[in-house]
Amino acid sequence: MAGTIGLELEAREVDWEFAPGRKIRGFGYNGEIPGPTIEAEVGDTLEIRLSNRLPQATTIHWHGIRLQADMDGTQAVQPAVEPGGTFEYRFVVPDAGTYWYHSHTNETEQLERGLYGGLIVRGPDEPTFDGERTLILDDLKLGPDGDVAPFGDEHEHHAGREGDILLVNGEQQPELQIPAGTIERWRIVDAANTRYVRLAVGGRPFTIIGSDGGLLTRPLAAEEVLITPGERVELAVGPFDENEEIEIEALPYDRGKGETERATLATLRVGPAAPSHAHIPDALRQIDPLVSADAEPTRMIDLKALMHAGKHQRADPVRVGELQVWDLVNETGQDHPFHIHGFFFQILRQDGDAAPVAVWKDTVNVPRKSRTRIAWLPDDRPGEWMYHCHILEHHEMGMMAHFAVVP
Ligand code: C2O
Ligand code: CU
Ligand code: CU
Repeated sequence: MAGTIGLELEAREVDWEFAPGRKIRGFGYNGEIPGPTIEAEVGDTLEIRLSNRLPQATTIHWHGIRLQADMDGTQAVQPAVEPGGTFEYRFVVPDAGTYWYHSHTNETEQLERGLYGGLIVRGPDEPTFDGERTLILDDLKLGPDGDVAPFGDEHEHHAGREGDILLVNGEQQPELQIPAGTIERWRIVDAANTRYVRLAVGGRPFTIIGSDGGLLTRPLAAEEVLITPGERVELAVGPFDENEEIEIEALPYDRGKGETERATLATLRVGPAAPSHAHIPDALRQIDPLVSADAEPTRMIDLKALMHAGKHQRADPVRVGELQVWDLVNETGQDHPFHIHGFFFQILRQDGDAAPVAVWKDTVNVPRKSRTRIAWLPDDRPGEWMYHCHILEHHEMGMMAHFAVVP
């Protein structure tokens, strides 16, 4: 039976010890970075009271949740909550999946300083695993004095902000433990301002089971997976042998700014064996295609023009119930993770090729010099929405547009 989950989130400054003995001034929810993981079941109502004890205004956006427009946490739908102020968010979580919440005000600084957390919604028939964990990936850019580097230099505007301290759940290179012989569900979120993570688990095979909007139609075997800012991926990981030590790594990736170096995100230590009850069915879920991959686009979004047009752009409205087929065209020299608030889309084509599996997404990487065709259906939730590049510095610079869903 659907219930109500009440929670107070207090945004405040916190001494963030991201590595033993290394502290910076962070911003956290309830003093934690990441903020508390919110766990709910499909149909539950979340009642979350934000109280702002920060020295600056803030709001919370519920990334991926198909909620009513007035609860979306952007300044298009609410005034920012000033220091000392409060705001009540109240919405139903209609879809199982891995989501996250984060500040949607002065995001470049507030997310870098730690204002984000996981939001897990479970459905009635989830696959069975031996364990589950949420891994929120991030990075930190520090200055020579060891504190958070200043924000907003010219280079960051264009290239985004990346730091060389990689974080998992707010910690640099944590150690994780897993019992031998078991299979876990890992829900992974990329909460970094800009960093793309081409994730590998010691080169071992794993199974991709979910994306932004919950489970895939069927499991996909892989040895690496690319996660871009804002995206989520769910993996089935294991089983491993006792005493193994496995590096969870970010492999080199070139998003148009030169290839990154291979780096360790965390170490996984395999402990004594435990019995396994994990079962991943061959068919995870039914997803009906919204339209065939050959559908003609109804709109073209030129990411290069979007990037250079400056702040406060408005796109044409869309009507409830009218299928949208959008061509996202990237003529720039870098990749951009394109995100739509409040609605899921399906990927029809990436650079001409039909998408291999049906999946619900709210964020998709559009690689440089390529195009991606998506389809989505505005259901009956009229109001003010937006899309933007989830590289936060690009968003801040104006690589975004507001649009209305009209009845
Ligand atoms: Cu997670 Cu407007 O974004
Ligand atoms: Cu969002
Ligand atoms: Cu971008």
